[in-house]
Amino acid sequence: MPTILVTGGTGYIGSHTVVELLEEGMEVVIIDNFSNSDRKVLDGIAEITGKYPLFEEVDLRDRQSTYAVFKKYPEIEAIIHFAAFKAVGESVEKPLSYYENNLLSLIHLLEAMKRYGVANFVFSSSCTVYGEPDSLPVAEDAPIKKANSPYGNTKQICEEILLDTQESTPENRVISLRYFNPIGAHPSARIGELPLGIPNNLVPFITQTAIGIRDYLKVFGTDYNTPDGSAIRDYINVVDLAKAHVVAIRRLLDNRQKASFEVFNLGTGKGLSVLEIIQTFENATGEKLDYRVVKRREGDVEQVYADTSYANSELGWKAEKGIEETLLSAWNWEKFIHSKKSAL
Ligand code: WQD
Repeated sequence: MPTILVTGGTGYIGSHTVVELLEEGMEVVIIDNFSNSDRKVLDGIAEITGKYPLFEEVDLRDRQSTYAVFKKYPEIEAIIHFAAFKAVGESVEKPLSYYENNLLSLIHLLEAMKRYGVANFVFSSSCTVYGEPDSLPVAEDAPIKKANSPYGNTKQICEEILLDTQESTPENRVISLRYFNPIGAHPSARIGELPLGIPNNLVPFITQTAIGIRDYLKVFGTDYNTPDGSAIRDYINVVDLAKAHVVAIRRLLDNRQKASFEVFNLGTGKGLSVLEIIQTFENATGEKLDYRVVKRREGDVEQVYADTSYANSELGWKAEKGIEETLLSAWNWEKFIHSKKSAL
């Protein structure tokens, strides 16, 4: 079975993807520097799959140690690249660290691919490249808008780097997966989202409020031009998202793709508002959520949700899990982490 290099494999989406790859019988080598994750995630992966993935603690900003991984594992046939800084607000405060980390990591990987003859690459991208879309749902050919943040800009620049290098390395086969809003946790509640510090994202803030870590949830604006006034997003279950990466890897290894650079939008195709998420969370868990409406958050778009028809037809992949099950999985994960902390 093929060996897949997963960068950022102890991160949120990375760890869920490693689980799915291992369960498909593939070999996995993880590169991570724990800048936004915890070594204990490896135990969670092993608990779920019964296998410890091979692991290298490497910072991709260091070219030589990146090359050393490829030298050590000549069996690597494909790469899934998750490792990147991803907090929108933080990227506004520290733009240079975002450009250095997110761009240099990709450049070193592409150099290593050329040097060690690896040609299959799946890139973790984001719907943030579309900015505030002109029309909904958003298809892959929607115009790329000026990014709202340095984080979003690094995603756009990385996709341009991948496209530009196609000329000089036509043997490379690349798939860029543009995620909408990944949420939830593995049904085992042994891995999930582990935001360091105060969560930026809605769902971990909801579960931390419900468990009592946060006093209340701020709803950033209910004065949008939407049915209930709160902003709309396409919330996709992280396990559904992880499975899409396995499909993408198989497509590359089986050489089934049409072009050497493909883009797919990964969402559910359904938009839900912040207030709908809150209501659904309360109904699914029986927990009452204390929230207060405050002003809009800088940089937020009003509505964005995916046109999933291309991913459904071309990849033969579709998001399966409903929002209730997904929010419940996030809640079960929060309770699991809380039980571990109180056990310490
Ligand atoms: C969702 C909605 C907020 C927190 C970002 C990145 C995207 C991806 C996911 C990395 C918005 C509202 C949130 C809160 C709130 N990141 N909200 N109170 O901003 O859509 O997407 O994270 O891969 O690339 O752009 O996600 O979860 O932060 O916000 O009201 O405490 O929830 O205003 O409408 P976002 P989010």
